[in-house]
Amino acid sequence: MPDIRFIHPDGREDGFEAPDGVSLMQAATGFGVDGIIAECGGSAICATCHVYVEPRWVDRLPPPDDNEQALLDNTAAERRPTSRLSCQIRLGPELQGLTVHVPERQT
Ligand code: FES
Repeated sequence: MPDIRFIHPDGREDGFEAPDGVSLMQAATGFGVDGIIAECGGSAICATCHVYVEPRWVDRLPPPDDNEQALLDNTAAERRPTSRLSCQIRLGPELQGLTVHVPERQT
């Protein structure tokens, strides 16, 4: 049951406890975090669940696979070294405190 935090471009924050085993995207949409659209429902084809992972967390996540890498080249907001698709991040106790930033736009 990690506590996770989404920081919006205007500085607002959504912080909540998420269940283990769901994706970061599922946790966000379940909680109603705006700015995480997830058009494809987590099938890794839309890139509208893009987030910027807080730098200190980047190396603690499994690296993106080839498909995620390709999709990250097509995000609406600029791709950064910390860009990830939130539907590809599976939550567990090791991600207690995970913090990500919501991009300015997803489409
Ligand atoms: S929800 Fe579509 S790529 Fe993540």
